[in-house]
Amino acid sequence: MIGASIVSGCGGIQSTLDPAGREAKSIADLFWLMTAGAVFIWIAVILLTVYAARTRSDASNQRRDRFLIVGGGAVVPTVVLTVLLIYGLAPIPTLLAPAPAGSLKIIVSGEQWWWRVRYFPPDGEPFELANEIRLPVGEPVQFQLDSPDVIHSFWIPSLAGKIDMIPGRVTYLSFQPTRIGIYRGACAEYCGTSHAFMNFYVEVIKKEDFSNWLVQQAQPSQPHAEPGAARGQELFLANGCNACHTVRGTPARGVIGPDLTHVGSRLSLAAGTMPNETDAFQRWIAHTSEVKPAVNMPSFHMLPPEEQRAIAAYLEGLK
Ligand code: CUA
Repeated sequence: MIGASIVSGCGGIQSTLDPAGREAKSIADLFWLMTAGAVFIWIAVILLTVYAARTRSDASNQRRDRFLIVGGGAVVPTVVLTVLLIYGLAPIPTLLAPAPAGSLKIIVSGEQWWWRVRYFPPDGEPFELANEIRLPVGEPVQFQLDSPDVIHSFWIPSLAGKIDMIPGRVTYLSFQPTRIGIYRGACAEYCGTSHAFMNFYVEVIKKEDFSNWLVQQAQPSQPHAEPGAARGQELFLANGCNACHTVRGTPARGVIGPDLTHVGSRLSLAAGTMPNETDAFQRWIAHTSEVKPAVNMPSFHMLPPEEQRAIAAYLEGLK
C-alpha cells in the first residue's frame, strides 16, 4: 500500500523519475543506481552490526577483526566511492554539451515571478510569449538563460536537469525531449515572495504541429468576434495596461510584463498559478496581489466588475 503510493508519487508531469527526455533519463538512471547501491550497503552494514553485537571478541580472532576494520572501514568505502565518483561524473560532459549547431534556440529570462520566453524561428520573425514553451519531439533544443535582477533556477524535472539564471551572466541548457506530452517546469531557487508561484508548462508536440504553432505565434493578434471584445480592448488601453504589456497588432507595446498577443491560447495564467479561463482572468486582474503576493502588477479592483470582465474576455479571446 505504502509502496504503491510512493511509486505513484514518482509519476506525473513534474517528476525526475518519469523522464521524457534523453538528459532526464540519464539523470534518473544515475538516481536508481545510487539508490540501489545505497540500499545494498545499508543492508550490509546492518548485517555486520548484528554480527558484531552477537560475537564476542578475544585474542584468538584479532586478525579477523583487523581484516574487518581495515577492509570495511577503508578499502570498501574507497573502492565504492571511487566507482561512484567516476560513474556520477561520466554523464556531465554530455549533459553540459550544447545542442548541435542549427538547433532550435530559445531564450528564457527569469522575471519576478514569471518566465519571458523568446523564440527565433529559422525562417520567420522572432516573437515573445510567457510561461509556456513548446518543443518538437525528438529534436535537440538550445536554451539560453538569464535574469535581469535576482537569481532563479530553470527546471523541467521530466526533461532535464536544472540550471541557475544569474543576473549579469548567461547560462545554457540543452536537451532533447523524447516523449509527446505536457510537462511542468518550476523555479528551483528561492527568488522572492512569490517564488512558489513561478511555474510554467512545456508542451512537447509533433514536429509538423510545432511548425504550425511557430507560424501562428509569430502572427499579430487577430480581431475576433467575441461580443464585447472591442470594448475590452478599449478598456485595456484606457486603463494603461499597454504601458507594461504588448499585444502585437494593437497599440499596446509595453515590455515590462508578459507579452499577451496570444495569451488566450496558453495553458495557464499568472505563471502556472491559475487556469486560463475568463473567471480566473477577471480574478487575476482584480486581485493581483492576493493571487501572487508582492507582484509588480497593480490590482484593478477599483474598476467596475463589468469592466474587469470585458478586459478578461478580450484577453481570453486572444488565441
Ligand atoms: Cu524564480 Cu524562484
